Amino acid sequence: MAILVTGGTGYIGSHTVVELQNNGYDVVVLDNLSNSSVKSLDRVKAITGKDVKFYEGDIRDRKILEKIFDNEKIDSCIHFAGLKAVGESVEKPWEYYDNNITGTLTLVDEMRKHGVKNIIFSSSATVYGDPAQIPITEECPKGQCTNPYGWTKSMLEQILTDMQKADNEWNVVLLRYFNPIGAHQSGTMGENPNGIPNNLMPYITQVAVGKREELGVFGNDYDTPDGTGVRDYIHVVDLADGHVKALKKIEENAGLCIYNLGTGTGYSVLDIVKNFEEANNLKIPYSIKPRRAGDIAICYADPTKAKKELGWEAKYGIKEMCADSWRWQKNNPNGYED
Ligand code: NAD
Ligand code: UFG
Repeated sequence: MAILVTGGTGYIGSHTVVELQNNGYDVVVLDNLSNSSVKSLDRVKAITGKDVKFYEGDIRDRKILEKIFDNEKIDSCIHFAGLKAVGESVEKPWEYYDNNITGTLTLVDEMRKHGVKNIIFSSSATVYGDPAQIPITEECPKGQCTNPYGWTKSMLEQILTDMQKADNEWNVVLLRYFNPIGAHQSGTMGENPNGIPNNLMPYITQVAVGKREELGVFGNDYDTPDGTGVRDYIHVVDLADGHVKALKKIEENAGLCIYNLGTGTGYSVLDIVKNFEEANNLKIPYSIKPRRAGDIAICYADPTKAKKELGWEAKYGIKEMCADSWRWQKNNPNGYED
């Protein structure tokens, strides 16, 4: 039996394919390459020594889904495919709702038609909105999202929850990621954003490699120890491992499960700059800019539930995250295009 990984050529998906193969799973990837390069799968193969079966196509395309479910023995789906740029989602809400919501509705409809009722869904800490409590447990109520991207995650959680309630043959694991950074230790795989990076770590690595002049720190007047935003950064390889552990939960027929995947430690923007400089012996010039619309002050997880129920916990610390992000960027200044 194989695992269908939608969005498997992307940042988190490709790292997860490595961990799945290293744990003996057969993997089939479906991706439309709208935000990724198929070359990531060559890098996967170089690490694991195993081929990845790849279908280029869209999760909204029933024909390709039918072809996959007819031709491959799919047991479960890990569903990463989606658009994820917060700012772009404000400019293009229809495109985000269509890609993420229509896409997921089409995928799960074809799954059930083919008797595949196991899904792990990439959700996000963004569903907590401005969180009612810190650290954030899974019991913390979901909040108001500040952008269409966040709403797609929140709505899709609800849709999958309702489907599982109506048909208890479904096993649904909602994984709420905190802030994934880092890269595979080999330095051959990592995050490869198009254009100007929205997220902190890719921006820092592009300053370090000379592509950008300086980092803009979005606000230093938050109610945090140094005034800059605090987040729970998690190594992408730890995150990938969380999916392997979640599959074991599916194998137990666990029904609906929700887990935070974070480290439980918050770092400010300036903490990240300092750790990046120390880990890599570099200087990152920065200047303080106005707050970014929609940002919250503090967001970090209580990851106890994932530890207790999945036996999962993050292994890598902030220095390793910073060193691995830099190794990838330094070795691949143009991502997979070199
Ligand atoms: P990514 O853009 O690198 O990967 C997503 C992949 O999905 C890309 O390869 C893209 O080409 C593909 N894709 C998009 N729409 C598709 C469609 N309609 N059909 C087929 N393929 C499609 O992003 P990532 O950082 O690896 O994120 C993976 C998932 O995790 C996403 O759902 C994202 O929303 C979620 N997530 C990411 C973060 C983060 O900070 N990176 C945080 C929380 C949740
Ligand atoms: N930041 C800067 N300068 C930058 C980029 C970011 O100061 O150039 C700051 C932000 O203001 C924030 C922190 O760095 O305080 C982290 O920002 P990111 O954009 O890296 O991450 P966010 O926490 O805003 O959001 C990310 C993903 C979301 C996801 C969320 C989950 O982009 O999709 O993590 O917690 F939902």
